[in-house]
Amino acid sequence: TSNQMWGGRFASGPDAIMEEINASIDFDRKLSAQDIEGSLAHVAMLADTGIVSGDDRDRIVAGLNTILSEINAGTFTFSRQLEDIHMNIESRLADLVGPAAGRLHTARSRNDQVAVDFRMWVRAELEKSVAALGALMAAFLDKAEEHADTVMPGFTHLQTAQPVTFGHHCMAYVEMFSRDRSRMRDALARLDECPLGAAALAGTGFPIDRHQTARALGFSGPTRNSIDTVSDRDFALEFLSAAAICGTHLSRLAEEIVIWSTPQFGFVRLSDAFSTGSSIMPQKKNPDAAELVRAKTGRINGALIALLTVMKGLPLAYSKDMQEDKEQVFDAAATLELAIAAMTGMIRDLQVLPDAMRHAAGAGYSTATDLADWLVRVAGLPFREAHHVTGQAVALAEEKGCDLSGLELADLQSINDAITDDVYSVLSVEASVASRTSFGGAAPDEVRRQITWWRKHL
Ligand code: ARG
Repeated sequence: TSNQMWGGRFASGPDAIMEEINASIDFDRKLSAQDIEGSLAHVAMLADTGIVSGDDRDRIVAGLNTILSEINAGTFTFSRQLEDIHMNIESRLADLVGPAAGRLHTARSRNDQVAVDFRMWVRAELEKSVAALGALMAAFLDKAEEHADTVMPGFTHLQTAQPVTFGHHCMAYVEMFSRDRSRMRDALARLDECPLGAAALAGTGFPIDRHQTARALGFSGPTRNSIDTVSDRDFALEFLSAAAICGTHLSRLAEEIVIWSTPQFGFVRLSDAFSTGSSIMPQKKNPDAAELVRAKTGRINGALIALLTVMKGLPLAYSKDMQEDKEQVFDAAATLELAIAAMTGMIRDLQVLPDAMRHAAGAGYSTATDLADWLVRVAGLPFREAHHVTGQAVALAEEKGCDLSGLELADLQSINDAITDDVYSVLSVEASVASRTSFGGAAPDEVRRQITWWRKHL
């Protein structure tokens, strides 16, 4: 039998394989709430502009509300023959309210319909991400406050570089996740235009009020070009790119947690709630959640590349290729949500081991820069010469098997006779950290200042 929506020019129905490749109902049923919301706004506008009668509107509204409760109750039968969520709902509406149902699709196409549904879905997901990132940032702020004075090694090349504090390190992640949150907010701002009324691609001759439907659906106004409107999936691409960058940050954090929780580093201990054991090795406590967050970033990146690839060759306006947008976004959104939640739990529960951090901070001549800076400040050496002198001191300490503060004054003076006893005041890790008072630096008071600023801007 031919299709009930467009059967007029068709003698037969689709091949089974055609139906399989064409149907999107198995995944786009996720858009059912948005689809009904969009239809309710559309039919209200059609009645207000006199395009349909008040009676038909009332029948359609009642039918749509029944369908919504059927879907919520799990009693709605989704059918593959009806291809997608839009036609599943319209077909059920016809069962429920008869011929009036056929008036709902006046001045509308599935092209603007799916664009508005999907935009609303992505909008909700962006809002969820903004909130979830706020919670993650708050978890980091609490840790940072608690550990503003906890000295740890800072790294470059994963080699000990200069002492910092765990609080300072936590605040680095606050900055990273705040940029992710702001990218999500930027995407929300650009997404804030309503596609409904673009119809198939050219607009419509019916006297619709696009401003009314835009307002009803929570948008600032309608999109300005009907061709662009049904061709555009930038809102999905922006969500995916913001998600991919965020996933990259989560993955870097996951990697640090994996490293820090090894017995070799021993900087942190994961809670039992966010780690697993081994089925054979009784001593093991594995950072599985962190590893999975690191891995799931791959799915999000994959979704971004998949949708970019779907879109890159498409002529304007709508092409069916665009139906492939949804699964990618659905999967990436669920993945991101889970990854942020897992990370927030891990950070909240994270037990920090300050002794191990402090011990590691002192290793690897981490205060060498402080010695060089002292030579510049107190002994008046040019920095390049101070760098050279300090290099010699490090070589000597290495030879003697001690750290810089373990060198005798006489040893240091044999390298440069301007060195006095005062130098020892800068060679400890605490002194080093305390001296980094520049804006954004590692000094505990500066970190506390940044925490205070973020408490107000969270
Ligand atoms: N299921 C379709 C999609 O997801 C809806 C739009 C179909 N439009 C069309 N002209 N075939 O994109």
